[in-house]
Amino acid sequence: MAGEKRSRLLLAPLIFLCVLLLVGSTSGIGVNWGTQSTHPLGTSTVVKMLKENGIQKIKLFDADPNILDGFKKSGIQVMVGIPNDMLYTLATNTQAAEKWVSKNVSAHLSSGGVDIRYVAVGNEPFLSTFNGTFETTTLPALQNIQAALTKAGLSNRVKVTVPLNADVYLSSSDKPSDGDFRPNIHELMLQIVKFLSDNGAPFTVNIYPFISLYLDSNFPVDFAFFDGSQSSINDNGKIYDNVFDANHDTLVWALQKNGFGNLPIIIGEIGWPTDGDLHANLQYAQRFNQGFMSRYLTGKGTPMRPGPLDAYLFSLIDEDAKSIQPGNFERHWGLFYLDGQPKYQLNLGSTRGLVGASGVHHLGKRWCIMKPTANLNDDQVPPSVAYACQNADCTSLGYGTSCGNLDARGNISYAFNSYFQVMDQMESACKFPGLSVVTDNDPSTGTCKFRTMIESVSAERLASIRTVLFVFLLFSLL
Ligand SMILES: *[C@@H]1O[C@H](CO)[C@@H](O)[C@H](O)[C@H]1NC(C)=O
Ligand SMILES: *[C@@H]1O[C@H](CO)[C@@H](O)[C@H](O)[C@H]1NC(C)=O
Ligand SMILES: *[C@@H]1O[C@H](CO)[C@@H](O)[C@H](O)[C@H]1NC(C)=O
Repeated sequence: MAGEKRSRLLLAPLIFLCVLLLVGSTSGIGVNWGTQSTHPLGTSTVVKMLKENGIQKIKLFDADPNILDGFKKSGIQVMVGIPNDMLYTLATNTQAAEKWVSKNVSAHLSSGGVDIRYVAVGNEPFLSTFNGTFETTTLPALQNIQAALTKAGLSNRVKVTVPLNADVYLSSSDKPSDGDFRPNIHELMLQIVKFLSDNGAPFTVNIYPFISLYLDSNFPVDFAFFDGSQSSINDNGKIYDNVFDANHDTLVWALQKNGFGNLPIIIGEIGWPTDGDLHANLQYAQRFNQGFMSRYLTGKGTPMRPGPLDAYLFSLIDEDAKSIQPGNFERHWGLFYLDGQPKYQLNLGSTRGLVGASGVHHLGKRWCIMKPTANLNDDQVPPSVAYACQNADCTSLGYGTSCGNLDARGNISYAFNSYFQVMDQMESACKFPGLSVVTDNDPSTGTCKFRTMIESVSAERLASIRTVLFVFLLFSLL
C-alpha cells in the first residue's frame, strides 16, 4: 500500500511533466505578417484570422503603432522589427535606441497591452546582396537596443535577436558537420552569437528550400520537401533526406564548433511561394508547408536538435507591392491571398484547416481588358503595358506562372486589369488610349485568375461609418 502510494506520488509530477512537455511540443506556430501591399487587411481582421487559425505568434517587420494597437489583449505574442535602414542611427546614437524602445516597446507593454516578446534588430542584414552595407552597424545597434531594454527594466521580458539569412553559414562539403560561419563575417558572427548567448537571446535564421531550387536547376526537387528523397546525405550516421534539416543542422554545427552548441534557434521565416516562378505553385507550396507543419507538430526537430522547433511561417498574406528584385515570386508567399482567403488546405494543428478572413469586401465584378477591336501592333501597347505593370502587379505572367499560358491579348488584358484593380476600379484607370474597355465578364481561365480588388481599409471604415449613419438615420426617423 505504502509503496503504491509512493509510486502514485511519484507519478503525479511525472504526468504533470508529460503534460508540460506535450503542451511545449505543440505550442502554436508563428507567422510573419508583412504589409507591403496596395490593400493591406485591417489589423482587427488579421487578429481575428490568427485566432481562428490557432496562430499564437506574429512576427512583424517594423513597429507601426496602429498595427501594434490592434494586438492589445489579443493573447498573441509579438516580435517587432527594426528595418535595416534604421540600424545606422540606432548603432551610433544610444538616445535614439532608448527612444525606439520607449516608443515602440515600453509604450505598448502596459497592463492589458501588447505581448511583445522579441525585438528583431534588422532583417537579414548580412545578405550577400547588401554588399556588407550593414556589417558595421548591426552589432552596435543590437547592443544599444539591448542596453535600452535593460535600462527600461525589460531585459527579462523582451529578448533581442537578429533574423539572419541562411547564407551567414555554409558547409565546405554537403555534410552539416562541416558547417561554419561564412569566412568574411566569421569574427562578427562569433561576436553576435556571444552577445545573444550572454543575454539569453535566441539565434534567428530564415531557411528557404525554395531558393535552393530557384537558384540551381540541378537541385534534386524531392530533397526540397519532407516526404523522403533519393538524394539523402549520410553525415556520420545521421541521415538527411531534406534540405531543411541539412541546412538547420549546418547552423547547429557552426554554433557548436564555436562553443555555442546550446544557443536556442528560432526559424524566423520558412515557407513556399505560389506564383511567379516555375517552382512556385499551389501544389509545391501545399506540399512543403504541410510537410513542415506535420514535422513541427510532432515536436521532433532535426537530427542534431531533436526537441520541438520554434518557427514563423512566411508568410500570412501576399504582398503585391513588395520589391521583386529577388524574383517575381516575392509577392506570392502568403498562405492567404490579398483578400485573406486561403490558397490551399493546410493543417496547422487544429482540425478545421485554414480559416479565411471575414468581413472583407471585394469591389464589384468589373474588369479592365484589351478592347476586342484594338490592334495588337498599336504603338501605344508597349508603353501602356509597361505603365500598368510598373504601377500594379504582373508577376503572375511569364514562364511557368499561373497566367503563363495567356496569349498576347490575354497578357495585355491581365496588365490593364491589374492596374485597374490596384486603382480601386476607378473609371479613369481603364483609359489606355484606344486600347481598353471595362467588362463585367470575368476573363479568368484555368489557373489564371483575373482578381477583383478588395475595398481598402479606409473604404471599409467608411462603409461601417455609412452603416452607423444609416442605422442612426433610420432610428431618428422612427
Ligand atoms: C518606432 O517604429 C516605427 C516603425 O518602424 C518607426 O517609424 C519609428 O521611427 C520608431 N520610433 C522611434 C522613436 O524610433
Ligand atoms: C551591390 O553591388 C552590386 C555590384 O556592384 C550592385 O549592383 C548592387 O546594387 C549593390 N547592392 C547594394 C544594396 O548596394
Ligand atoms: C506574356 O507576357 C509574359 C511576361 O511578360 C511573356 O514572357 C510572354 O512571352 C508573353 N506572351 C505572349 C504570347 O505575348
